[in-house]
Amino acid sequence: MLDNTFGEPTIAIAYHSGFGHTATLAGAVASGARDAGTHVDLIAVDTITDADWDILDDADGIIFGSATYMGNVSAGFQTFAERTGRRCLTGAWRDKVGAGFTNSGAKAGDKLQALVSLAVFAAQHHMHWVNLGLGAGWNSAAGTEHDLNRLGFWLGAGAATDVDVDPDGVHPADVATCRHLGGRVAVVARQFVAGRALVAATD
Ligand SMILES: Cc1cc2nc3c(=O)[nH]c(=O)nc-3n(C[C@H](O)[C@H](O)[C@H](O)COP(=O)(O)O)c2cc1C
Repeated sequence: MLDNTFGEPTIAIAYHSGFGHTATLAGAVASGARDAGTHVDLIAVDTITDADWDILDDADGIIFGSATYMGNVSAGFQTFAERTGRRCLTGAWRDKVGAGFTNSGAKAGDKLQALVSLAVFAAQHHMHWVNLGLGAGWNSAAGTEHDLNRLGFWLGAGAATDVDVDPDGVHPADVATCRHLGGRVAVVARQFVAGRALVAATD
């Protein structure tokens, strides 16, 4: 009989935030993943430590987050990405679950390009990308800015924060959307962990 307790999946959230807004959203992603039954570690990539690299290497899933700067991921995130080059070559993160979120000042702000960059980065590591899994909000006469996925992204979570508000002024709908992303990745990570255990037991 197959044991159906596979252990708690581990999710790491690796993010860069210059002014704290994306950090607020990283916290929302973390709370969604924790509530869905995973162990979560938050890693600010501009202050990453050796212990944090170990956490990333051991995680079942990594959710990447970056502020959108100049229509792409921030230099802080890209510096981190380039530091993973050796891991990319060795396949150290192969088959982990991956997902991403970004935050910009403008409602559009060309932030899709940042999400694409995060997805390509995950693909270069041979990770399995998890999309947002929500229809578009705020796209009908009945819709409002308080809808989940109010900015209508599919590839990951996209948020917009007015450039003159503090990090605790991040839009509640974007916080909720990021919580959703964390929960969705947690469920997928659990499915992967359980599926691998099943395959190993029946091979
Ligand atoms: C150097 C720089 C470049 C930016 N480029 C964009 C951009 O391309 N599109 C946009 O909508 N907002 C842009 N912004 C605004 C930020 O995305 C926005 O203030 C965001 O909330 C910052 O997140 P953070 O506090 O996590 O760094 C830029 C801000 C900075 C400082």
